[in-house]
Amino acid sequence: MLKICCIGAGYVGGPTMAMIAKQCPDIQVTVVDINEKRIAAWQSESLPIYEPGLDKVVQAALNRNLFFSTDVDAAIREADIVFVSVNTPTKTFGEGAGCASDLQYWELCARRIKEVSTSDKIIVEKSTLPVRTAEAMERVLHAGNRSVHFEVLSNPEFLAEGTAISDLEDPDRVLVGGRETPSGQEAIQELVDIYARWVPRERILTTNVWSAELSKLTANAFLAQRVSSINAISALCEATDANVAEVAHAIGTDQRIGSKFLRASIGFGGSCFKKDILNLVYLCETYGLHEPAEYWRQVVVMNEYQESRFVIRMLRSMFNTIAGKRIALFGFAFKADTGDTRESPAIRICRKLVEEHARVVITDPQAIENAKLEIPDLLDRVEFEEDPYAAAEGAHAIALLTEWDQFKQLDYQRIYQSMVQPAFLFDGRNMLDHDALFEMGYEVFSIGKGMKSHL
Ligand code: UDX
Ligand code: ADP
Repeated sequence: MLKICCIGAGYVGGPTMAMIAKQCPDIQVTVVDINEKRIAAWQSESLPIYEPGLDKVVQAALNRNLFFSTDVDAAIREADIVFVSVNTPTKTFGEGAGCASDLQYWELCARRIKEVSTSDKIIVEKSTLPVRTAEAMERVLHAGNRSVHFEVLSNPEFLAEGTAISDLEDPDRVLVGGRETPSGQEAIQELVDIYARWVPRERILTTNVWSAELSKLTANAFLAQRVSSINAISALCEATDANVAEVAHAIGTDQRIGSKFLRASIGFGGSCFKKDILNLVYLCETYGLHEPAEYWRQVVVMNEYQESRFVIRMLRSMFNTIAGKRIALFGFAFKADTGDTRESPAIRICRKLVEEHARVVITDPQAIENAKLEIPDLLDRVEFEEDPYAAAEGAHAIALLTEWDQFKQLDYQRIYQSMVQPAFLFDGRNMLDHDALFEMGYEVFSIGKGMKSHL
């Protein structure tokens, strides 16, 4: 029986391995992590991450051919294929701080694999890594002891949170990069054969290892760039009375542009976009490519501008003072259908509002626990409230920050009556019916559209 081990039971490792196990009952998949709580949660009723449809996929394979364990060494030793899916956050210290990837967890894994392996293995990079990391990994793995052979592949994950299961089940493409040597090609084929159990062959792309690594960074940079581009236009729309949704629709019907990823918002968040762009910036700089580095850096600069702009607009419209005013934040997750709050624009927006001495109340259907971890220093200055109606009661303003469907279904008339007048509503995701809200009496502000004010 082919045995797979995955190091790292996070947002990427957990769902990806659950899908492989579900689709390939004859392959034994063991996911390991040093975090005992996480491993226990994967085996319980309440999974450590919220992802629609994930529970069913896990249940289909759990304890059949899908196992979770903290015994990292044993799982590595037994495996034919080891996926490395540990976190690679942006470095916060030393050379490249704020830009480069912190590879310490990843290198620890490589050293562990080398130490405990007694048979040849294929090592698959799943975490997003800077280009040429595979080469470094090969060097760590083969340093000294040459009796065991490791073939390093790059197989970047393109799943998006909230749609992880459908992205895994029916991906646009699967990318496998490997060495152009015979053993490299053989390893590629082995991994391709696994995905080919459920993914049409023509959607499985094979490249050299560096192209695979760079494609992941590039895909995220292009997606984030679209969001920053439409957000830049949203500022212009607000100044000119154009409507950003109409502009997005008009340009999106051009097939060369396409309609996706053109929703103006308070900015992109999530664990990948900012990190990967900064990584790309750092890579460019490392190779002396200053103009390309600056070009991509602007995508992040624009994102920060969009967050600040939103708060400034709140402040200006609420008579230049929000000190002491109760402001309900509807949503804290970086997008809908996930409990993930990493790099969520809500974090910075919340901080800026607290700096202005607003009384912030946070409500979110899935992300309250994670939100608390993001702002440990503010816990005595903000409130958390499960019920959005209670959050909005007595508030001067609502700021809608995450496009949860639940927020669309609320009775805004009832909410309006419980708020302080004039009641302000800032729709940071352009998802509510602004005309209807205006009719109810709200002062309505959205992204990239003129305001609707009774004052
Ligand atoms: C992203 C990539 O889509 C995925 O392929 C990669 O593997 C990981 O990074 P994810 O971060 O889960 O996935 O979410 P995504 O749907 O890409 O959204 C990222 C951010 O952009 C969110 O904050 C979202 O709200 C924002 N966004 C997205 C917009 O503001 N407007 C849009 O039109 C699209
Ligand atoms: P991602 O979004 O990339 O999946 P996460 O932070 O959700 O990132 O998951 C990464 C996981 O990797 C964490 O659960 C962390 O505990 C685990 N991890 C980090 N280093 C190691 C290691 N050396 N051995 C095992 N697991 C590790």
